[in-house]
Parts: sequence; C-alpha cells; structure tokens
Amino acid sequence: MQNNKASEKTWRLVQITDPHIGPSRDYCLAGVQTYETFRQVLAELGSQKLAPDMIYATGDIAANGAPEAYELFAQQMQFLEIPYGWLPGNHDQLTIMEEGLSSASYWPMLEMGQWRVISLNTSVPGKVGGALAQSELDFLEQVLNAEPDKPVIVFLHHPPLPVGCDWLDRQRIANADELEAIVRASGNVKAVFSGHVHQDFAGQWAGCDVHTAPSTCFQFLPNSPEFALSDQSPGYRWIDLRPDGSIDTGVEFLKETGQVVDHKAVGY
Ligand SMILES: [Fe+2]
Repeated sequence: MQNNKASEKTWRLVQITDPHIGPSRDYCLAGVQTYETFRQVLAELGSQKLAPDMIYATGDIAANGAPEAYELFAQQMQFLEIPYGWLPGNHDQLTIMEEGLSSASYWPMLEMGQWRVISLNTSVPGKVGGALAQSELDFLEQVLNAEPDKPVIVFLHHPPLPVGCDWLDRQRIANADELEAIVRASGNVKAVFSGHVHQDFAGQWAGCDVHTAPSTCFQFLPNSPEFALSDQSPGYRWIDLRPDGSIDTGVEFLKETGQVVDHKAVGY
C-alpha cells in the first residue's frame, strides 16, 4: 500500500533546463524550433508515466529574455497542471522573468517531506559565466545551518565543476570554491543539479554528487574544446528523493522530434 505521509514518501522531481524559447512559437535556434521541442518534452512529462510531484526549470528559459518567451513557457506549464519551480540562467532577464512567470513565484527553498530543495541564482547580468552573490551564499549557509539533520539538494544554472568542454568550463561558477566551503562544512547537501551545459554529466564535487541535464532543445557535443552541437535529442532529468535520504536519478531523451540540428551554427 502506498504511504502518502510527506515524510515517508519518495518525492519525484523532474528537471527541465535550457529551453531557449524565443519571442514566437516558430522561433528557431541552431536549426531547432525550441518551443516545439519544449512542448514535446512536456507532453512526455504529462503522459502519466513519470507522474512527477514537481518540475524544476533550471534557467535559460528564454533565448534572449523576451517577455513573450516567458508567457509561452508559463502557458504550457499551466496546461500540464504540475507544480513547478524555476531559477534564472545567463540568457534570462530576472525582472522580466518574474513578471512572465508570476503564476509560479520564485521559491528559493521548498520543503518536500524531510527534504529541503534549494534554488540558487548563479546568473550575472550581462555575463555568460556564472557566479554567486554573497547574498546567495549567505542564504545557503543559513538554510543548511538551520536544519543540519535534513537532506538537501541544490538546483542552479551554471555547474560548479568542469564537465570536459573547455569553452563551457570557462563559464562555470567563478567562485565555486566559496560554495564548496559551505557545502563541505554542512555535510547535508546530497546532490547538486545544474543546467547550462546542454548535456548529461555526473561528477563528484565538495563531497556530493553533481549532475547536469540535457536541454529541452539542442545538446552540446561532450568533450569538445570549442562550441559544437551534437545530434542527441532533447531530454530531461528525473530525480527521486527517497525518505531514507538517498537519491535515484537518470535522464531520458525524446525518441523523435522532427527537428534537425544545424551543425553550421557557430553559437546560440
Ligand atoms: Fe546558460
């Protein structure tokens, strides 16, 4: 029999990331209609197979911060009727984003049974690379110290560690050492989940697991020193937070999207 008590159930989250939605439905980036592939990912999430308790969108929701992009995003998310959280990436405009996503306000910390789910903002206005403001570091430290016995996961846009692509690794969180000191001192952060790198990567950092996730549009070529796209299809990550403080996670990719990546693209 399924136990529905919040502290005894397994919480299933889905991480979607880097949709890069443009100002219109037919907006195309690197050969891919990004709104269309985002919609296809949501269709799969709504198919009952996964039945997530919550969806987290880890930034770069908009390709260039257009208000219409957030409206398109919010509209589709509302059709899905699954609660969602979000945080900004380097392609987002936070104030426009907050307005466009007003139906789901920004939550820096959520309680899911005994789990604590923290979102940090690594975006720096006008910059591609990530960094954490002192206020974000202070917030994290405060939450971790307040409940030292609770298992925690952290969502953010930029990864704190290199993923094997030189051009992306230069954009990782510039002051990741400050984040590392806080995470190591607390010992209750079980995993960190980032976006930005448009690929599935797993590593160990600060004594915990770090996972990145595939984008809902196009993927970058793993282990490439410079910008390059791969033919891997759009995808998402599922995350199960178990009551014993352990995590199970994996990625899924769409089988057929009808979209073909333009390998002649030199940026995004
Ligand atoms: Fe990004």
